[in-house]
Amino acid sequence: MTTQKLAARRLLLLPGDGIGPEVMAEVKRLIEWMNQRGLGRFETEDALVGGCCYDAHGVAITDATMEKARAADAVIFGAVGGPKWDHVAYEARPEAGLLRLRKELGLFANIRPALCYPALAESSSLRRELVEGLDIVIVRELTGGIYFGEPKSITDLGNGQKRAIDTQVYDTYEIERIARVAFDLARTRRNKVTSSEKRNVMKTGVLWHEVVGDVHRREYPDVALEHQLAEACGMQLVRWPKQFDVIVCDNLFGDMLSDVAAMLTGSLGMLPSASLGEIDPRTKKRRALYEPVHGSAPDIAGKGRANPIAMMASFGMALRYSFAMAKEADLVDAAISSALAKGLRTAEMSAAIVAEMARLAAA
Ligand code: IPM
Ligand code: MG
Repeated sequence: MTTQKLAARRLLLLPGDGIGPEVMAEVKRLIEWMNQRGLGRFETEDALVGGCCYDAHGVAITDATMEKARAADAVIFGAVGGPKWDHVAYEARPEAGLLRLRKELGLFANIRPALCYPALAESSSLRRELVEGLDIVIVRELTGGIYFGEPKSITDLGNGQKRAIDTQVYDTYEIERIARVAFDLARTRRNKVTSSEKRNVMKTGVLWHEVVGDVHRREYPDVALEHQLAEACGMQLVRWPKQFDVIVCDNLFGDMLSDVAAMLTGSLGMLPSASLGEIDPRTKKRRALYEPVHGSAPDIAGKGRANPIAMMASFGMALRYSFAMAKEADLVDAAISSALAKGLRTAEMSAAIVAEMARLAAA
């Protein structure tokens, strides 16, 4: 364990809506325990994001909270949205808060590992042998593509018709930098990248395929690269998921493929994620936000049924990627595994994880 005098780490906690606050409460418990045990010195501050922020301030995130996010060492994000805000203007909808954070903090690389814990292999919709031991990572481009491209509009054509436009746009540098994240990650794993796009119908797919291929030839010839059309990749994910190591794709395909991958692991409540910016050459630091892949699940909010694992594992990713605390991150992962092996699911989970971490740390 870490023994040197620890620097204070500033965390901005954004629990959000629905089950967000419940699962964030479990992370707070973990942080408190780590602080008490001298395993970290985390200073936390809470702020509103999403529907709850809209209710209080009329926007999905305030400028003041954006400032805090820029100043923090890492942002820990719960979930946003719910039917209560369905009527809200598009610009102020709960999701706009998350998208503003991603865009303005420059968090272009979204890393979504899908691990199937043995204890959950039975809960997957696929047969145990297809998913047991599954360990893949989806690297999703997060600040470009159709999420942010302009024009983005709905126009009244005046003849009883409307026209909606979304724009998918990618520049070379955006594809290069996300490809590098995927290849670097693959080198630390099983050394294989699958790049997914639709070059058969989309110009952005043509460029994506070309640029990923160029980066591979120039900088990563030692890594195995294959290309799969996005729908084929979705099909292969449910057919034979263990063929994959790292999948790299654009913002929209990454959104879809990561939900598919999440469900392979037995529960949508299982997938953590890290959203990372560029490394600042001066400070060597990078902006980062950690969030579970699941949504705010308003139907089960407040019922003590929310699975906190994806949220706790997201905090584990913060330890690993933002604070170079790999040992402590391993501890979180091991504690989650053994709590799961005991058959625990939801409310009892975090207490069990903290207890298990104490046991493992003492061992
Ligand atoms: C995700 C979510 C978000 C997205 C929503 C909440 C805007 O589904 O992080 O995957 O579409 O990116
Ligand atoms: Mg999604």
